[in-house]
Amino acid sequence: MIAKTLIIGACGQIGTELTEKLRAEKGNENVIASDIREGSEKLMNSGPFEILDATNYNDLEDVILHYNIDEVYLMAAMLSGTAEKFPMKAWDLNMSTLFNALNLAKDSKIDKLFWPSSIAVFGPTTPKDQTPQKTVMEPSTVYGISKQTGERWCEYYHKRYGVDVRSIRYPGLISYKTAPGGGTTDYAIEIFHDAIEGNFYRSFLTENTALPMMYMEDAIRATIQIMNADPTKIKVRSSYNLSGISFTPKELAKAINKKIPQFEIDYEADFRQAIADSWPSSIDDTEAQKDWDWKHEYDLEAMVEAMIEGIKASKTS
Ligand code: SER
Repeated sequence: MIAKTLIIGACGQIGTELTEKLRAEKGNENVIASDIREGSEKLMNSGPFEILDATNYNDLEDVILHYNIDEVYLMAAMLSGTAEKFPMKAWDLNMSTLFNALNLAKDSKIDKLFWPSSIAVFGPTTPKDQTPQKTVMEPSTVYGISKQTGERWCEYYHKRYGVDVRSIRYPGLISYKTAPGGGTTDYAIEIFHDAIEGNFYRSFLTENTALPMMYMEDAIRATIQIMNADPTKIKVRSSYNLSGISFTPKELAKAINKKIPQFEIDYEADFRQAIADSWPSSIDDTEAQKDWDWKHEYDLEAMVEAMIEGIKASKTS
């Protein structure tokens, strides 16, 4: 039997592409998209869609019972940049949605939960290069504190109540289908839009700020792969390190220049520089490779090509 799936935050950067992919795999009617706001016509019309505020336990439970949901992907969150501006709101949103989903799983209203964590769980005292799965974690951002806390609760609910929760520490995700909102790694998306428009780009991170990144297609594949893995293979119930590509704004600009030679960039750091400086430059994801056979596909060159082609194609369609 095909598991009935609910995606919370389906209109967001990850949610849109996850919904598209899962609907293609499982059949449109088996994937219920939900968000606090409306999304694209394409997303809302390609299968069941619900306006849902997942901070409200009863509303979430109603949707889960109504559609007989088996598994939930909880993709709603306030990202790092915005969270620094609205700390209490970010904490509230990021934690209450997680607790609602964990408690519904604990009460057997759903069988399985995916919850995304982030490289933001690491902090300035974490080893920066090839950051290991288990290491010092002293996050210094509101977003990072919420993700680190969330990881602890996921592991707790698994150990204490047997909840089947699975999680990945996403690096910065690069995509063109839906814009991200309020992240520190968003420069790596904005840059493409300006380059293709023939504009120059002013990066809000300095030229040598290396961060772990990943092309969205790899991230979606990882997400579905960990959810489909046999439960005995999931040894880490906090969240798995996941590694894709590591690069700096300067290196990205250089890679874009190979395709768009006239593109120019300059650098003017804003408050997000401090956030980026507290995060790793690259990630070691040996555990994910070992436990559920993870392997990323896109390198810098392939990602740049896919982004340029994708943005160009979406402008002409
Ligand atoms: N991309 C996210 C952000 O910048 C990190 O998880 O907030």
